[in-house]
Amino acid sequence: MPAPTPIILDCDPGTDDALALLLALASPELDVLAVTAAGGNVGLELTLRNALALTALAGSRAPVYSGADRPLLGAFVNAPRVHGVDGLGGIALPSGGSPAPGIASDAIRAILRSAQRPVTLVGIAPATNLALALASEPKLAGNVERIVLMSGAWGEGNATPAAEFNALNDPEALEILLASGRPVELATLELTAQAQATPERIAALRAAGTGRSLKTACDIQASVPSSPRRGHGAGAPLHDPCAIAYLIRPDLFTTRACSVRMDLGPGPSRGRTVIDRWDSTSAPHNATVLETINADAFFALLGERLARLP
Ligand code: BDR
Ligand code: CA
Repeated sequence: MPAPTPIILDCDPGTDDALALLLALASPELDVLAVTAAGGNVGLELTLRNALALTALAGSRAPVYSGADRPLLGAFVNAPRVHGVDGLGGIALPSGGSPAPGIASDAIRAILRSAQRPVTLVGIAPATNLALALASEPKLAGNVERIVLMSGAWGEGNATPAAEFNALNDPEALEILLASGRPVELATLELTAQAQATPERIAALRAAGTGRSLKTACDIQASVPSSPRRGHGAGAPLHDPCAIAYLIRPDLFTTRACSVRMDLGPGPSRGRTVIDRWDSTSAPHNATVLETINADAFFALLGERLARLP
């Protein structure tokens, strides 16, 4: 088996972040060098607490760092309606350990500076921590293998008609990553809509094993209100785990290289990712969008991996 891919996982748990974090920690293809928390779905105090509790639940020793409590400009707009006021749909977890000393962007830079091989940055939250790290020491981008994000949409948003939640919550940060010169790969809303966690899929996931982590993951996902807006029936899209699955099983996805430009204006389309999938402009390709996912295989992978955890 090839050496595991070193990653830094930046998250804002968050119900779907919880499943993504557990999937990453359960997968031998990935070496999670650090987990960094930002505010987003709920405030930083809660996302950090949740990241610590989930990492402990998985029996992982990955260090967890506290990061941004606000975007580069303005303030995070939280999503308690989807994630609950605690960020995990009211599913209580034993508390985890303490955060590692220091702050996320410093830790990211320190890891990149001393990395023996390039590190993959994985972002499933507003991109503030990752952008702060690269903007404050741009040459470290040379130690970044690629940047894989759950962010953006080529059509309608979910936070506003124009913008997806993570992109809206820090569009300038996402622009910094897109301009970093490193490959940026986006799991957009159109991709994650194909990974609908229907009640049937959650039941199958629950039946995959008997461990506490798997049960917790299923309880958390079952708390998410139905979001049938994209016509995929009951349940909700399992956004963030798609980005992790892409690292583990890229063969389950199809992709397209294209140009992605941010709407950074103050108007109603702020945070929109203008994705030119059909090359209708001559803008250079600066990103890859994930276009399709084999959803049944994705849910099978999730069950098989989460069942390995305590
Ligand atoms: C993204 O926004 C958050 O609410 C989810 O955790 C995911 O990262 C989906 O738009
Ligand atoms: Ca998230």
